[in-house]
Amino acid sequence: MSAAAADPVWRVGLIGYGAIGQSVARLLLAQPGHALGIVTRSVPAGGFGPGAEALGDLEALLDWRPDAVIEAASADAFAAFAPACLAAGIDIVAASVGALQDAALHERIKCLCDRTGSRLVVPSGAVGGIDHIAAAALRPETRVTYISRKPPAAWVAELATLGLSEAAQKGPVTLFEGDAREAAARYPKNLNAGLTIALAAGFDRTSVQVLADPAATGNTHEIRIEGPLGDSAMRFCNAPDPANPKTSAITAYSLVAATLRHFGTLQ
Ligand SMILES: NC(=O)c1ccc[n+]([C@@H]2O[C@H](COP(=O)([O-])OP(=O)(O)OC[C@H]3O[C@@H](n4cnc5c(N)ncnc54)[C@H](O)[C@@H]3O)[C@@H](O)[C@H]2O)c1
Repeated sequence: MSAAAADPVWRVGLIGYGAIGQSVARLLLAQPGHALGIVTRSVPAGGFGPGAEALGDLEALLDWRPDAVIEAASADAFAAFAPACLAAGIDIVAASVGALQDAALHERIKCLCDRTGSRLVVPSGAVGGIDHIAAAALRPETRVTYISRKPPAAWVAELATLGLSEAAQKGPVTLFEGDAREAAARYPKNLNAGLTIALAAGFDRTSVQVLADPAATGNTHEIRIEGPLGDSAMRFCNAPDPANPKTSAITAYSLVAATLRHFGTLQ
């Protein structure tokens, strides 16, 4: 009897080792058959543990020949790494999709995917129901509203700049109302969800509201979908990541789930 073929090992590159990156590493290494190559600005004193190795830079990442790369760093890191990975035929699962508010970068990514057959995977991140939004948006009449609601403490500097600090202690204050690209351009660290929704629904059909609300208990995301196929509403009140309270803990899980699905037989 011949020996059974060894199970494949998926080689996953990871950019960023902050709140999301560390959770992604822990979750992915707990799955059998995954090896991690991590690009980070500082390697922890004890290293990363079994199954993971440090990669110095973009060149080292490409030389490591990953099957896919997870970006969990920043919009700037997305802009620096994603085009090179896609050009090399490596799919990328990205957290910092707010970077696509830059229409030129978005267009470049699309061209690279067309040319090489590689794919940018946009996970649901801090929200969900993206499949429902994309289905409803096949009808051009569909309109989607995304409302980001956070306590005033999450927007101290922005409220002060607008002279709204006092008003925001008394009731909800609108910091922004408009399209998803402008929202992500103004608040690149906070509006990835709006971009994720707009990518599914279409930028021309998506409007974004950013509210500072003293009654908000956490980072809440509301999505309203209205159109000929029905009206729906979704609300996500996420637990913060203990390492970065501005980040929803579910985001790392979403990146890992999207990566596992990407490698899996069921899409
Ligand atoms: N898609 C979503 O729904 C969603 C939700 C939350 C956060 N995010 C985004 O995910 C990203 C990571 O969030 P986080 O909470 O882990 O942030 P974090 O600040 O805790 O960690 C980011 C890490 O990436 C590193 N980094 C930044 N640029 C880098 C580069 N060029 N090369 C290597 N390392 C680099 C930083 O040093 C830091 O350690 C952010 O861009 C954030 O806006 C997306």
